[in-house]
Amino acid sequence: MDFFSVIESRRSVRLYQEAPIEPEKLQKVLEAADLAPSAGNLQGYEIYLITNLEQRQGLDQAAYGQTFISQAPVVLVFCANPGRSSVRYRDRGRKLYCIQDATISCTFAMLAAQALGLSTVWVGAFNDDAVRQAAGIPAELIPVALLPIGYGAESPGRRPRRPLNKIVHIL
Ligand SMILES: Cc1cc2nc3c(=O)[nH]c(=O)nc-3n(C[C@H](O)[C@H](O)[C@H](O)COP(=O)(O)O)c2cc1C
Repeated sequence: MDFFSVIESRRSVRLYQEAPIEPEKLQKVLEAADLAPSAGNLQGYEIYLITNLEQRQGLDQAAYGQTFISQAPVVLVFCANPGRSSVRYRDRGRKLYCIQDATISCTFAMLAAQALGLSTVWVGAFNDDAVRQAAGIPAELIPVALLPIGYGAESPGRRPRRPLNKIVHIL
């Protein structure tokens, strides 16, 4: 798929088939996540790959009952690692760059999944401690996004966006 078709066809999908993800596809998604830019190339993030059903269901609960999360065969948990970014960038690394690093990496994974015919939804509404507990994530990491990945079982239409002329401020 051409790059702009990937961007235009992506939707948040909240219904998944049971079909597993081919290991080669999952590998491509993870490699794309690793190719994301990061502050000082420090890659101030960690990715937890969850396939275990019980842990996925734990993530449902940590995300206030969003049960579509565990429907997907794979959930990636993107965490900021303030310790990595703060070594060079101190407060700005701890408070901002590691969050941005994790976010961009998740975006690369999301778009790679789309290019491979997989579906995703970005999940940001969750309790940090409950996510840490469900996925075995150490206390020093900050969960930033959950990304369920699987073959979609719904095809939502395009969601509305603010018109460009309201978002872009041309000076
Ligand atoms: C930071 C962030 C947090 C989000 N959190 C959730 C969430 O907790 N649950 C959910 O179902 N969707 C969540 N979404 C998905 C948005 O609802 C979705 O991207 C938006 O409605 C636009 O739809 P589209 O992705 O299909 O274009 C989140 C998206 C972002 C970027």
